[in-house]
Amino acid sequence: MPTLGLDDHPFFQGLERTNVQALAAAATIRRYEDGQVIFEEGGESDALFLVLDGRVAFEKSVPGNKWRVISYAESGDFFGEIGVLTGAPRALRACAASGSAFIARLPREELREFIRRTPGPIDQILQSIVSHLHHTTRHYVDEMLRQEKMSLVGNMVSSIIHDFKNPFTLISLGAQMIASQHKDPRTQKLCDNMNRHIQRMVDMANEVSEFARGIQSFRPTRVDLRTLVQKFHELNEPYFQKEHVSIETDIDAVILEGEEGKLLRVLQNLVGNAIDACDECKEGRVRIEARDRGENCEITISDNGKGIPEQIRNNLFDPFVTFGKTGGTGLGTAIVKSVIEAHKGRIRFETATDKGTTFFIQLPKAQGPRA
Ligand SMILES: Nc1ncnc2c1ncn2[C@@H]1O[C@H](COP(=O)(O)OP(=O)(O)OP(=O)(O)O)[C@@H](O)[C@H]1O
Ligand SMILES: [Mg+2]
Repeated sequence: MPTLGLDDHPFFQGLERTNVQALAAAATIRRYEDGQVIFEEGGESDALFLVLDGRVAFEKSVPGNKWRVISYAESGDFFGEIGVLTGAPRALRACAASGSAFIARLPREELREFIRRTPGPIDQILQSIVSHLHHTTRHYVDEMLRQEKMSLVGNMVSSIIHDFKNPFTLISLGAQMIASQHKDPRTQKLCDNMNRHIQRMVDMANEVSEFARGIQSFRPTRVDLRTLVQKFHELNEPYFQKEHVSIETDIDAVILEGEEGKLLRVLQNLVGNAIDACDECKEGRVRIEARDRGENCEITISDNGKGIPEQIRNNLFDPFVTFGKTGGTGLGTAIVKSVIEAHKGRIRFETATDKGTTFFIQLPKAQGPRA
């Protein structure tokens, strides 16, 4: 038997007996075994629950079919009221924790009727407090999950880099040996390419790892935009040849203070997305332009692809926002934005379904003193 009877539960204390009779009569009491689910995340919010005995855990699903405990309710607490009052589905899953639990279930209709009959503007006040709470909680939980995902990505990438270091070093040494024994220009160029690509893989992995940890190192040097775009072309030539998309460039002669490797990755991510977007185009076209605008320069990357899906236009630059790609991590544009902001620049886009997308990047030529 539970330690608390229904009448002794604090939820009913201080309320006029005649008012709560109908509500108490509609209550059902049930025992849940340890770990047994009381309601599922996303389920209908059809009742309020009172804990008469034991403990209840509230859990949120996280990647990898796992659950993360967000909070607990103990004997004398009640839960599930937010969904009942707002009509929103359950934001979390509830289950009995640390042994069995006795739970009373008060059905939604009877509860709403009880609130309606209670004198004064209690219903409206409750609605407003609850909807405020609902938003705050949702925001908190989303933020927590985002951080969890970030730290998972950070750990994963660090361990990959660690495991890849030896093979990378061996390939790099091999390339250097071949280059020292075969001095013809073609072999020299191929070996040089191998080394550059290895360095690029290490840099890319380091960057994702830094981004996931919230670290943004920034070591600006003098960057010639024309050389940068040319480098980008050379590095990607083998890939571009495979794609049925033409890549055009029109770059003003601009020198700016920036970090070459990071700016290369901006192009890589945005042009990569643009090529993906032209998947179903008859004649896919991607264009990179850079214009000298006095103190700033403006880089645009445009395509005639399918356009950014409406569902993600408002939060495209958030981490893990991906749409319609099987292998997408959703980190590409988030990293791009963080790089542009590290350069004190700005990025925005214009897009139209089935017409194409243009990203506009504004970068200052000089970085000035850093805060
Ligand atoms: N130029 C574009 N045209 C159409 N859709 C785009 C374009 N750029 C981005 N998107 C959409 O935005 C989503 C997010 O892009 P983002 O680069 O952040 O992640 P991703 O490409 O899915 O994964 P990855 O981390 O591998 O880059 C893409 O999945 C795609 O649906
Ligand atoms: Mg991408």
